[in-house]
Amino acid sequence: MSTLAKQPGVAEQLTAFGAQWRPGERLSAHTSLGVGGPADLIRLRDYRRLPELLEYLRRRGVPWRLLGGGSNLLVMDEGLEDVALQLLREPEGLKFDGSRVEVPASANLGTTVMECAKRNLGGMEGLIGVPGTVGGALHMNAGAYGTQIGDVVRAVHVFRGASGRVEVLRTEDVRFEYRHSSFASDDILLSVSLELPERPYAEILERVKLCNQKRRASQPINEKSAGCIFKNPPSLSTGKMIDELGLKGTRVGGAVISERHANFIVNRHGATAADIFKLMELIRERVLKGFGVELEEEVIVWRN
Ligand code: EPU
Repeated sequence: MSTLAKQPGVAEQLTAFGAQWRPGERLSAHTSLGVGGPADLIRLRDYRRLPELLEYLRRRGVPWRLLGGGSNLLVMDEGLEDVALQLLREPEGLKFDGSRVEVPASANLGTTVMECAKRNLGGMEGLIGVPGTVGGALHMNAGAYGTQIGDVVRAVHVFRGASGRVEVLRTEDVRFEYRHSSFASDDILLSVSLELPERPYAEILERVKLCNQKRRASQPINEKSAGCIFKNPPSLSTGKMIDELGLKGTRVGGAVISERHANFIVNRHGATAADIFKLMELIRERVLKGFGVELEEEVIVWRN
């Protein structure tokens, strides 16, 4: 339980901010892995109320973490002491202006790729099967099949936790690296302006189909997972190393190393976060012993 839940009048106050208050929400329902204990969840629709909401939390000394689409997140079974904050999807959607598009951070990434395609804007085809929100993709600089979202970003509207203000950052103000960006953990991305190359719809669709096919053939897309669990070390493939060690199909409790892609851990039999963590440790030890390589988590782990 968070320190906020212990304070009186919280529900009324949060309702006054236009936020939903869901104490003790099981985060397993909000993560693609389907694991994770309870957290006190605040869901906000109107991000213009963010400054007052965060000021309210700050004054009460309540730490918070931002919950996006939950598709690259591993939450411990004991749950979270911090408050989980979620921005609900805005109804107004995408705003197009020539080869530029303004996208709310809470928009679904796959939907965004297809909405842009319909207006003959490409450049994001590789991201088609990547689950989650546009904001989450930006924070992680999500990438696949030669596309990284950071490459098409022109500007980002961000609420900066440090200053408590909304700022507009240009491409040159943000560093995008492999599965990493220079945004701080208390930066809340609000919307992003993308600049996309113009291409015929049919051509974009062809590339989208190709990426979908490749993904379907090489990744367990119909099972509960958080995507690749470890990063690739420079010029190495973690999936290939785990595969060569013969670890596909290894099971701990309800968690299994996917037979389709060895860098995916799937929740096949009602796994707990502890099962997944044990399997990650096993992989880490075996890869270190077998290849002398220390793996780095790609999945974001919420520990207390
Ligand atoms: N491979 C194996 N066995 C496996 C998995 C892969 O031998 O079980 C081999 C493949 O045959 C290939 C090589 O390893 O020769 C690379 O595999 P793949 O093309 O599947 O790419 P990857 O490096 O394993 C990366 C990203 C994926 C992204 C794909 C496609 C990381 C950690 N992973 O995977 O991203 O979808 O490329 O571009 O960067 C994610 O971020 O969650 C993710 C899944």
